[in-house]
Amino acid sequence: MSTTIYRKDYQPYPYHIEKVSLHFSLDVTRTVVTNTMTVTRKADMPRSALILNGEDIQLESVSIDGQTTTDYTLQGEQLILHPTQDHFELTVTSTCNPSANSTLMGLYVSGNSFFTQCEAEGFRRITFYPDRPDVMSEFFVTLEADKAKYPYLLSNGNLIHTQDLDNGRHQCQWHDPFLKPCYLFALVAGDFDIREKTSKTRSGRDVLLQVYSDKGNGDQTLWALDSLERAMFWDEQRFNLELDLDRFMVVAVRDFNMGAMENKGLNIFNAAYVLADPETATDANFEGIESVIGHEYFHNWTGNRVTCRDWFQLSLKEGLTVFRDQEFSADMMARNLPPQAALSARTVKRIDDVTRLRTAQFPEDAGPMAHPIRPDSYQEIGNFYTATVYEKGAEVIRMQHTLLGEQGFQAGMQEYFHRHDGQAVTCDDFVNAMESVYCRQHPGKDLSVFRHWYSQAGTPTVQVQMDYDETKQACTITLTQSCPKVGVEKLRQDFDKKPYHIPFHIGMLTHTGLPIPLKVEHLDNARTTENHGVLLELQTQTQSWTFTHIPERPVLSLLRDFSAPVYVSYPYPAEELAVLCAHDVNPFARWEAAQELASREILRITQQIIKQQGNISSITVDTALLKVWLHNLTDMQLDAGYRSWLLALPTEKVLLERLSPMQPQALYLARRIVKESIASTHRDLWMQTYRTQHTTGEYRPDPISVGQRSLKNLALNYLLSIQDNEAISLAKMQYDSAANMTDRLGALSALMHYNATSEAIYGNTTVKAMVAQLNQDFYQHFENNPLVVDKWFALQATSAPNVAHIRELMQHPAFVLRNPNRARALLFQFCMNNTRAFHDEDGSAYAFWAEQVIALDALNPEVAARFSRVMDSWQRYAEPFKTLMQKALQKVAEHQGLSKNTTEIVSKALSI
Ligand code: TRP
Ligand code: ZN
Repeated sequence: MSTTIYRKDYQPYPYHIEKVSLHFSLDVTRTVVTNTMTVTRKADMPRSALILNGEDIQLESVSIDGQTTTDYTLQGEQLILHPTQDHFELTVTSTCNPSANSTLMGLYVSGNSFFTQCEAEGFRRITFYPDRPDVMSEFFVTLEADKAKYPYLLSNGNLIHTQDLDNGRHQCQWHDPFLKPCYLFALVAGDFDIREKTSKTRSGRDVLLQVYSDKGNGDQTLWALDSLERAMFWDEQRFNLELDLDRFMVVAVRDFNMGAMENKGLNIFNAAYVLADPETATDANFEGIESVIGHEYFHNWTGNRVTCRDWFQLSLKEGLTVFRDQEFSADMMARNLPPQAALSARTVKRIDDVTRLRTAQFPEDAGPMAHPIRPDSYQEIGNFYTATVYEKGAEVIRMQHTLLGEQGFQAGMQEYFHRHDGQAVTCDDFVNAMESVYCRQHPGKDLSVFRHWYSQAGTPTVQVQMDYDETKQACTITLTQSCPKVGVEKLRQDFDKKPYHIPFHIGMLTHTGLPIPLKVEHLDNARTTENHGVLLELQTQTQSWTFTHIPERPVLSLLRDFSAPVYVSYPYPAEELAVLCAHDVNPFARWEAAQELASREILRITQQIIKQQGNISSITVDTALLKVWLHNLTDMQLDAGYRSWLLALPTEKVLLERLSPMQPQALYLARRIVKESIASTHRDLWMQTYRTQHTTGEYRPDPISVGQRSLKNLALNYLLSIQDNEAISLAKMQYDSAANMTDRLGALSALMHYNATSEAIYGNTTVKAMVAQLNQDFYQHFENNPLVVDKWFALQATSAPNVAHIRELMQHPAFVLRNPNRARALLFQFCMNNTRAFHDEDGSAYAFWAEQVIALDALNPEVAARFSRVMDSWQRYAEPFKTLMQKALQKVAEHQGLSKNTTEIVSKALSI
C-alpha cells in the first residue's frame, strides 16, 4: 500500500546536525560507511524522537558519544532513537552492496568506477540520516579504496588530505565549507582522463575547472569544459553571481537516470551531456551539453546556496534554474551576431523551448499526473521531476521576469539572496522577494493573483474577442480566461479555481502587414513593448482594453514570444493568419501563425480521413497553406535556422493534443499528406534550398551554421518523403561525404524514415538494400562509441515498421536494458516517437510496453516509472486504442512486487 505525503503536513526537523563526518571503505560488493553526526536538539521544539532514514542498507552498529548502544529501533526504513542528551555525537555504521545496485540511486558501480546519486532520496541508500533538504550540515568525507583501481577519490568541496595506506589502499579527505542538505552529497572513485583549466573569477580568484571522463574519452570533453567556463562568466555578468569554490568538477558517467546532478562542487553528468566531438555528436548534442552544463553550474546559487525547504518546493530551484539555463543559451546564441541575426537566434531558442513545453508539459497538465508546479501531494517524489516542475516552472519565472523587466527581476534576485542565502526556503519566499520589487514599481498592486500559478494545475485558455468601431477608429480587445479542473483537482469538490495573473503580449497589423502603433497612456494594466507591441496584464476572469487611432480593422498578433503558458482561442480568418505568416514583425508570432495554419489543415484532413474511412485519394491540401510555404521558402531575408522552424510542420504529439478523441493513425496519415503535398508542390525550391545550404570549413556549432544544417536536412526530409530519386542520391552522397554527425545522421535518418522499404531501383540494387547497407555501415563504424550506438538504436526505434522489429533489436548484442541511455534509445523512443507502429490497432505494441515496464521496474524503478507515463493520455484516445491501452495498464498494475514509483503512475492513470 502506497502512502501519500502532503505539503500541508510539513514539520521542521527537531534536531540540528551541525557536522557530519563520513568514512567510506569502498568495495564493490561490501562498502562500509561510518557516519558520525554532531547533533543538537532544537531548544524551541518539544523533545521528540530522532528519526533517521535508511533504505536497502545493512545496519552494523550505533554509538552515542563513543559508547555502543542498542537502545534504538529499526522499523521498516527508519532508525529511531530517543536521546536524553541535548547535544551529542551519534555514530552509525552500515554496509551496502554497490555492485548489486541497479537503481542508480545511492552508491553504485558503473564501468570500473563508483558513483553516487542522492537527489531526491538516495542518501538514505548510503547511510542512516535525516534525508530531507531542510537539514543542512557541514560535511567532512574520507574515502578509502584500492589505489591502483581507484586513483581518483572525489567528493564535495576542497581536498584537504591524501595518504597512502597498507595493502595498496589509499585515502583522500574532503571538506565542504558550505552547509548543505544531504541530497547534494556526492562521491566518485575510479580512474579517469581529466581535462582542466585554471580560470579567474570576476573578483580575481583563481579557480580550477575540471572535467573527468572514462579513460580514452578525454579528447571529447573540450566543449564541456569551455561551456563550463562560459557559464561561470555569464552568471557573473548577467546575475552578478560568482563561483564560491576554488575547484569545480564535472564527472561523466555512462549509467545515469537523468541528465545531470548539481552536487556541490562535484557535478555528476550523464556522459551524453559531456562527451562531444564533430564526428560523433550532433548540433543538438552540442547545444544540450552547453545548456545542461550551464543548468547544473547555475544550481550552485539557485538550489545549493539557497535550497528547498521540502520537496514540494522543487520548482523553487528547478523552474528558476531552467529559466536561467534558457537565458544562458539564448545569450550564447545571440553573442557576436548583428541585431537581426541575434533576434533570429533568440527566437529559435524560444521556439525550441516552447515546443518542448507543448510536447511534454501540456499533455501532462491535461492528464492523470497533472499537478501544480508546487504539488500538494505525492507518493514518490522521484515521479515529480516533471515537465511541469521544470518547464512550466521556468515559464512561471519567465512571467515574473516579463512583469518586472530585466532590471526589476535582477533586483528581485538580489533581494532573494539577501534574505535567504544559506537557507532552505519555499516558493512563496521567492515570490515575496520578487513582489517587494513589483510593489515598488506598481504602488497599490501585488502578486497575490500571480501566486495561483503555484497552486493550480492545468493549462489556462485565454479567449480573445476583438471589436472594431470604424466610426470611432477604436478597437476593443477583451480577454477571458478559463482553466477547468484537471488531475487530482477533480477529486476535490471543495476546490474552486481562481483566475491567473497573465502577461499577454500583443501587437496589431494592417491587412497589408504593416505594424499599427498602439497608445497606452489612458489604459490600466497595459504598457508598450518593442515593435509597437503592448503587454496586457490580465488579472481577473475578463478584462477589456480599448485602443484608439486604429485606422482599420486590425490583424491581431497574439501572445507574442509566448508571454504566458496558455492556449489562445481566437477565430482567426485564414487570410489573417496568412498576413501574420508573411509579415509579423515579431518572429515568434510569425512562426506561431504558420504553425496554426498548418495545424488547422492537418486536423481538417484528419477528420476527413476518419469520415472517409481510409479512402484518401480525393484529399487535397488547401492552397493558402502551400502559398505561405512558398513565401517562406523564398524569403531570403530570413536566417536559415529560423526558416527551418517556419517551414517545419507541427509534430504529431503537439497536434494530437488538439484532437478529441485522439486518432493517432488518421493524424499520422493527414500529416504525411500535408508534408508530401508541400514537398511535391515546391519540389524545385526545396532542391534549391538544399543545394544552397552547404556549410564549409571547420565544424562549429554556432547558430548560423547550425541553422544552415538544419534547413538543409529539413529540405532533404521533405524531398525524401516523396521518394525523389535525385534527393535519394543526394542523401546517399551526404552520408558518404559527411564531415560531422549532424550531416551524417540527418541523411541516414531521412533515408530510414522514408525509404527503408522502397523496392525502387538504386544503381544495380534497390533503395531498400542501399539504406540497409548504410544502416549497417553506421553501426560498424561507431560500434565502440556508446553514445552513437544509442543514436543508432533510436533511429531504428522511431522508423521501425512494427513492434516485431523492436523485439529483434532487443536481441542485438549491444542492447542492455540496465543502461538507462540504451533503454531510452530503443524503448522510450519507440513508444513515444513512433506513432504509426506504437499505436498499431492490434494492440501488440501496447502489450510490449507492459512487458518492458515490468522488466525495467525490477531493475530501475525511477526509469521504469518514467517509461510508464507513455500511457498517461489513454482516456483521451478513440477506440480501439483506448481499451487496448487500458488493458496494458491493468496488466502492469496487477503485477506483483511493482515498485512504489511505477505503482503511483499506473494507479493514477487508471483511477483519475
Ligand atoms: N537535480 C537534477 C537537475 O535537475 C536532476 C535530478 C533529480 C536527478 N533527481 C535525479 C538526476 C536523479 C539524476 C538522478 O539538475
Ligand atoms: Zn536542475
